[in-house]
Amino acid sequence: MNAVRSDAETFDAIVVGAGLAGMLTALELRPRRVALVSYGSLGQWTSSAWAQGGIAAAVGDDDSPALHAADTVAAGAGLVERRVAARLAADAPHAIERVAALGVRFDREDAHYALGREGAHSRRRILRAGGDATGAELVRAIALAVHASADIVCYEDSRALDVVLDAGGAVAGLTLRVAGDVRTFSAPCVVLATGGLGGLYRFTTNPTSSRGAGIAIAARAGARLADLEFVQFHPTALDVAADPLPLVSEAVRGEGAVLVDARGSLVMAGVDAALDLAPRDVVARRVFALRQANERVYLDARHVAPDNFPERFPTVFDACMRYGIDPRHEPIPIVPAAHYHMGGVAVDLADRTNVPGLYACGEVAATGVHGANRLASNSLLESVVYPERIARDVAARTFARVVRPAATRAYAAPVPGSDAEWRSLRDAMYAGVGVERNEAGLSVAIERLNAIGDASPSDDVREAAVVGALVAHAALRRRESRGSHMRTDHPERSIAERHRSYSTLADARSA
Ligand code: SIN
Repeated sequence: MNAVRSDAETFDAIVVGAGLAGMLTALELRPRRVALVSYGSLGQWTSSAWAQGGIAAAVGDDDSPALHAADTVAAGAGLVERRVAARLAADAPHAIERVAALGVRFDREDAHYALGREGAHSRRRILRAGGDATGAELVRAIALAVHASADIVCYEDSRALDVVLDAGGAVAGLTLRVAGDVRTFSAPCVVLATGGLGGLYRFTTNPTSSRGAGIAIAARAGARLADLEFVQFHPTALDVAADPLPLVSEAVRGEGAVLVDARGSLVMAGVDAALDLAPRDVVARRVFALRQANERVYLDARHVAPDNFPERFPTVFDACMRYGIDPRHEPIPIVPAAHYHMGGVAVDLADRTNVPGLYACGEVAATGVHGANRLASNSLLESVVYPERIARDVAARTFARVVRPAATRAYAAPVPGSDAEWRSLRDAMYAGVGVERNEAGLSVAIERLNAIGDASPSDDVREAAVVGALVAHAALRRRESRGSHMRTDHPERSIAERHRSYSTLADARSA
């Protein structure tokens, strides 16, 4: 057992996760004294840093927040909270200016932001940086600002373990593993910004360390979870021997690339009126179905940016060339991969969870804005909009004085999961809880996840198995197909199921 050090540090707030949402929340909370807990160095191992296409905001002359909100609602397949979408779209232009003021260099054409197009957007409204390196530029600039801030104490290469609650059930601090020690810091407020769970799947565009740790931490503290069954698969991950898979941004289709089969036939013809720019769930299902029928699917970008593909899409170009594929001269092989989790820790309109003092922000939060299928490039957007709101809410509240908290349990020295354990767990998720689901497949996945978790000496594997089982149980309960959740045994959308879903930790083992 690791001894828990009792030299508790006291903070006004603790932010867990150093992707875009976490770092910006720490900045917005200033001048409060904030601990920022990061799994690697700031921005490392985060999906934020890998985001390509960009960040959606209605800043074009022909656009408006109302149109942006309407596209968000339409993509979300009947489950988007309209008020939340309206607020996100309305706050977007201001949030863009706020991060630009922090040093983010967005691409421009003349005096205006360069605006791209992505699936299910009715206007060109995707801002980008460095061509297709938007997330990397955001993370670069915001990490510099964090490092320059005297109010933020960074704990890099650290791992949050549990939220500590007081006798009344309110947040009193956080237990974490830092520099080999288990320590407990006190604070009346903890913000989880730990990202998603794509790493639970065999094919993913996320860092493999993204395994829903924030969901597990929140659930153990008694937080309500929402919409867990909705996992978005990106239709165009590069089909190569890599783990995680490099992403081929939807912005490439926004500039005219098309999906084709091995014979060069257009695969989206007759599937959706918006063809290759149909909502992401529609495109992912089509690609998945073709691959199930042993067809390979390609993205043909040979006519896109013919004079400057490497400059317009440097990240995509480099990734392709690394695997011997020249997108200027040959179609790019692609495969659907787990990309974004619409579900997560349920938050209300004030962005609070049901645990007093506990907030969630970014991908780990379930705000209701994405419904059953997130509109492309709304994820970086939520990561820049919500931090300011959370900081405002924290500033307006009076928290009870925190007495030095004690860790709630003893922690064994960490045991890493074996390659075989991770492979079985990730295969079980992709096969049973993936693009297509049905009752039998979900039940098999749950059994396998429980067995893997029960047999493992590793806390990480056990925790990942619980998170996977929570997603699978939520998917089992939703007996319809909606957005990213496709049940082959319930292929229709059901009016009776038109509601968000909620789970708690107990549901991981429900019958
Ligand atoms: C992409 O560039 O295709 C990803 C953008 C997103 O997931 O929002």
